[in-house]
Amino acid sequence: MPLPKHVFNPPFNVVRSSHVVLGVTDLARSLAFYEETLGLRVEDKTADAVYLRAVEERQHHSLVLKKTSKPSCECLCFKVASEEDLDKAAAFFAAKGLRNAFVEVPHQGRTLRVVDPFGMPVEFYFQMEKRERLLQLYSHYKGVHAQRLDHFNVFAPELQDAIDFYALLGFRMTEYTEEDGANGRIIAAWMHRKGNVHDLAFTNGKGPRLHHLAYWVPSPINIIHICDVMASSGYLTNMERGPGRHGISNAFFLYVRDPDGHRTEFYASDYQTMDPDHEPLRWSVRDPRRQTLWGQPAPRSWFEEGSVFGDQPVREALFKADVIIAA
Ligand SMILES: [Fe+2]
Repeated sequence: MPLPKHVFNPPFNVVRSSHVVLGVTDLARSLAFYEETLGLRVEDKTADAVYLRAVEERQHHSLVLKKTSKPSCECLCFKVASEEDLDKAAAFFAAKGLRNAFVEVPHQGRTLRVVDPFGMPVEFYFQMEKRERLLQLYSHYKGVHAQRLDHFNVFAPELQDAIDFYALLGFRMTEYTEEDGANGRIIAAWMHRKGNVHDLAFTNGKGPRLHHLAYWVPSPINIIHICDVMASSGYLTNMERGPGRHGISNAFFLYVRDPDGHRTEFYASDYQTMDPDHEPLRWSVRDPRRQTLWGQPAPRSWFEEGSVFGDQPVREALFKADVIIAA
C-alpha cells in the first residue's frame, strides 16, 4: 500500500504529543497507581481531577485524571508552535467540515478542541503554565523515573485513511508493518513530529480507541525496577506485556494497565529521525521480531483491548490482520 509522502510545510505546526486526559472511576485508586507506584508527580488536584507530570517536563501536566462514571479517554493533546498555529488549525478543520471550537481548559492558554475524521477527540494548545524543572533534582525521582510523555498509540479501524490524514498534518512515518505480497496492506504505522520514532502510532483494530500512552524513561533498568515494585505491591496482574525490546523503534518496553484498564507503556532508548531524507522502515506482519526483538509475541488483550474516547461509538476494523498472538 502507498506510503504517505512527508509534508514538510503542513497547514499548521504541531510540535509534539503533550498530554492526555483519562476518565477514571476512582481517583484515589488511580492515584495509588500513578502517583504512589509509578511515581508521577501530582501538580494540582481538585475534587474531580488530578494533574500529573514527569520529572523532565516543565509544563504543568502531561496526564490528567478526571473522575467519570465509566473509564474513557477524553482527548489526546498536542502542543503547537505558536498562537497563530492554533488559528491555522481551526481554519484547517473548518475547511474540512470537521468539528472544532476553542475551549477553556484549566492551566492552559487558548485550546482548540477538534474531532478528527475518524471520531477521535484531539486538542491543540500553545501555552501551558510552567513549572520548575526537576530533571536534576533527583530526590523527586520515584517509581519508574518517568521523564516525559513520549507518544500515543491508537486503534484505527480505517488505518490507511488515518495515516494519510495525519500525514497531511505533517506527521512523518518512521516505521510501518505491512502484510506480505503484492497487495499487502499496512496494519500499523509510527509517525512523528518531534524527531524520534513517534508522537502518534496507529494500530489496525476496532476503534477509534486509545491503545496506550507512553512515558519515556532513562534506561531499561528503570523498567526492570518497576517490574519488581509492581510484582511486590499488589500490581502483578497489571503488568500486561514485557519487559522486552521492541523490534519496531528499538525501544525497551513494559506495558501496564491501570485500575480502569487504561494502558501505559514505559519506553526507553529509541532513536532520532529528523533527517530530511529519513526513510520509513518496513516490517512484515509475520516477522516475530517486530513486536519483540527477542521473539515473544504480544498477548491477545494487547490486540483487542483499549480505551474508548468518551461516548464516541467504535467501529470494527475494515480488515483483520494476521498478526502473531501469544498462545
Ligand atoms: Fe508505544
